[in-house]
Amino acid sequence: MSITLHISSSPEQVATDFAVHFSQQLPNKDFHIALSGGSTPRLLFKHLAEDYPEINWQAIHLYWGDERCVPPEDEESNFKMTNDLLLQHIDIPSTNVHRVKGELSPQDASEQYEHEILAHVPLHNGLPQFDMVILGMGDDGHTASIFPHQLHLISEDGVTAVAQHPTSGQHRVTLTGPVINNASEVDFLVTGEAKRAKFTEILHKTGDWESYPASYVQAKNLHWFTDLEIAE
Ligand code: 6PG
Repeated sequence: MSITLHISSSPEQVATDFAVHFSQQLPNKDFHIALSGGSTPRLLFKHLAEDYPEINWQAIHLYWGDERCVPPEDEESNFKMTNDLLLQHIDIPSTNVHRVKGELSPQDASEQYEHEILAHVPLHNGLPQFDMVILGMGDDGHTASIFPHQLHLISEDGVTAVAQHPTSGQHRVTLTGPVINNASEVDFLVTGEAKRAKFTEILHKTGDWESYPASYVQAKNLHWFTDLEIAE
């Protein structure tokens, strides 16, 4: 496993630096990418929509690392956020967009999404292998929708799982840890002072790092894009 740290000067620069990296990774063959939700990717999606006309979206298939169990028009929906900021502004076939059907029951949404992934993403070591998984990290060290109180999802069998937000109780559908770690490349986008402490613990394997799901992401090529200077 290789770990590469990309330190940028601001959240805006993180989005720019990752967009450059992203655009350089895109061959003209089918490329399967799982996107992150939350607020961090918003800058990236706007940037990709506005400043990268050269990206061949015809060859790119988009998925989500996790989704809230809400309808696609709900303000909480990661799909809605992506659709508003990116999908509506690029020329991507609708058949290349593989959203979680958050309007279904959590179990049905998870099963349907697993079938969708298995129908499109090539297998490697018996699991779907995404070409790229883009992840965020919560202030509590969660990633995708694998939260500290459900750490077992980082080693869960299966492709997808139903998760639950620890405070709101909101049901989510998430990729499991083994599928995330089976990716050819995982890119964390982590910005903001609130994440510095946990980010440092994870990188240095100190403090409570073993309780943070993000600590267990170990893909073949792991990149951290951040505006956080790491104390040595
Ligand atoms: C979600 C995301 C989640 C996110 C982290 C970081 O559905 O909320 O997938 O895993 O990446 O919570 O969120 P922010 O980028 O908003 O800090």
